[in-house]
This record gives sequence, structure tokens and C-alpha cells, in this order.
Amino acid sequence: AEERREWKERARALLAKHDAVLVAHYYVDGDLQDLALETGGCVADSLEMARFGRDHASKTLVVAGVRFMGETAKILSPDKRVLMPDLDATCSLDLGCPPDEFAAFCDAHPDRKVVVYANTSAAVKARADWMVTSSCALAIVQHLKDQGEKILWAPDKHLGRYIQEQTGTDMLMWNGACIVHDEFKGLELELLKREHPGAMVLVHPESPRSVVEQADVVGSTSQLLQAVLQGSAREYIVATDNGILHRMRQLAPDKVLIEAPTAGNSATCKSCAHCPWMAMNALQGVVACLEQGSGEITVPEPTRSQALGCIERMLDFVA
Ligand code: 13P
Ligand code: SF4
Repeated sequence: AEERREWKERARALLAKHDAVLVAHYYVDGDLQDLALETGGCVADSLEMARFGRDHASKTLVVAGVRFMGETAKILSPDKRVLMPDLDATCSLDLGCPPDEFAAFCDAHPDRKVVVYANTSAAVKARADWMVTSSCALAIVQHLKDQGEKILWAPDKHLGRYIQEQTGTDMLMWNGACIVHDEFKGLELELLKREHPGAMVLVHPESPRSVVEQADVVGSTSQLLQAVLQGSAREYIVATDNGILHRMRQLAPDKVLIEAPTAGNSATCKSCAHCPWMAMNALQGVVACLEQGSGEITVPEPTRSQALGCIERMLDFVA
């Protein structure tokens, strides 16, 4: 604990020295989330991270999350230095959607609007008409449907299916999944709900249908956090990465938070839902990137300019 405190103080001093701001996701280490909030940075969902980084005056952004979050920050602010504690922090959705295969998929369906999830590489975004995050995907696809558009969707099959079922839009889908949310189990959740009949069930839409079907609230990480703060229930079953419990507990200390079951039964698997790539973010990485200038994100032209359009379209839509 003492050692962690020292690393945190070193990181804090370096952020000040380099006029840098820490932009963190809810799934990263709790010390990093605390440091971000204590130093004028943010802890947020993907959409809010993108906006915060774009609007902040600092010339250096330290993005604690996964690679697509750093890339989005760089695409929006090419003149800022964007650093990440660990450049190997990727995402199974990004890995499962290689740009060349995705381009061939788009070429084969030129009559469709291409809508991609934020969890993709810059090269994939360069082929897209729209980028969406989990907090605005439903509204944007509904908007496109109202305009009579057919959609090519990538890469998350669960989020895509959820939106398709909610809106009735014609969507052709890529077959990707998040390795963390894909593990939540519907049957085990049903059993857990029986043990906690008064609990509200909060589900991230990257989860399988059998889990989403049992949700009281489906939403982005920020939306699930809001649901805990505003809910009248005492107990909440949370089906998303357990990194978010840190902030939920801080803001709602009187509520009881229960992790949704991922495998077997809820008694044997209590904390399986944690993203291995989000977990690569550590205080030591923040110190290293600021001290050595390591972990810098670059997005080459013309990919950056081509990817900017789909992100700005989303940001204008939600503004
Ligand atoms: P949010 O945009 O809801 O924070 O989701 C990002 C993510 O990677 C979820 O797994
Ligand atoms: Fe990607 Fe899933 Fe990790 Fe989110 S939790 S970054 S979607 S692998």
C-alpha cells in the first residue's frame, strides 16, 4: 500500500510537470481512476472520454484504457501528444475485425451505411460512415432507419443484435464479441435473481441476449453507474467489467452491488469479469510514459483524416 502511494505521488507530480491530463475508463485500476479525478482529469465511458480529451486545454493527454480510446483521442486532437500507460492494451473486438477483411466486407455491400462501434482500429473507422458507442448506438441506428437506410454493422454481434431487435433495422453484421461480456450467463443470472428478488439488473449491451433479456437497464458504463445512483432499489446485479464497482461503491456506498455470474454458478465465480487489456493500465505505466515519453499514440495520414469524419458525425449527433 505504501509503495502504491509512492507511485501515485510520482504520477501526480509528473502530470503537473508535463501539463498533462489523465483520461481514464471505469474499468482501469481504482488508483488510476482516483488519480484522474484528483488531478482534474476524468473517469468516463468511451463517448465521454472522447469529448473530454478533445475539449481539454492540456497539450498532453494520458489515456488509461485500451488502444482504440487513445487512437480516438489522437484522431480528434492531432496536435496533442497522446500517451498510454501500455500500448499493448487492445480489445477483442478490435482484434477480431482486421481492416483488410472489413474493407472487403464493405466493398461487397456498397448500398449500406457503414456503422462501426468505437471499439475498432483507426483503419476500420476510416471505412465507416458513422462511429457509435454503447451510449448512443441505439439512437443513431434509429435515426438512420428513419432515413430509410440499410446498415452494415461491425464488429460486436451482441450489441448489433440488441439494436436490431429494438429498432427493427435491416442490419448486416460482423461476427465479433467482447471476451469479457460474452462470458455472462443467462441461466446463472436467473438463479441469482431468485436469491435477490428486489435487485435491479444492470447490463452492458456487449452481453449475450439471454443476459440482456433480463435487464432492468441496458446501457454504457456511465449509464449503468447513473442507474445505481438514481435507482430506488438497495441491491444491484451488475453485468459488466467489475472495474466499474470501484466508482459505483464510491458514489453509492449505501447500495449493495453484486457481480453478475460468468460461468458455473454465482457461488463459485464471483469476479471473473475483468478485461485483461484494461488491467494492463497501472500507475507505473503512467510514470513511465510521462518520464520517458513512451507509449505515444500515432495515427498516420490519410487514415486519421478519413477516420475523423465518422467520429465527428457521432459527436455532432449527440451534441
Ligand atoms: P463504454 O463506452 O460503455 O464505456 O464501453 C467501452 C467498453 O469497452 C465496454 O467493454
Ligand atoms: Fe474490449 Fe471487452 Fe475489454 Fe471492453 S471489456 S475493452 S469490449 S475486450
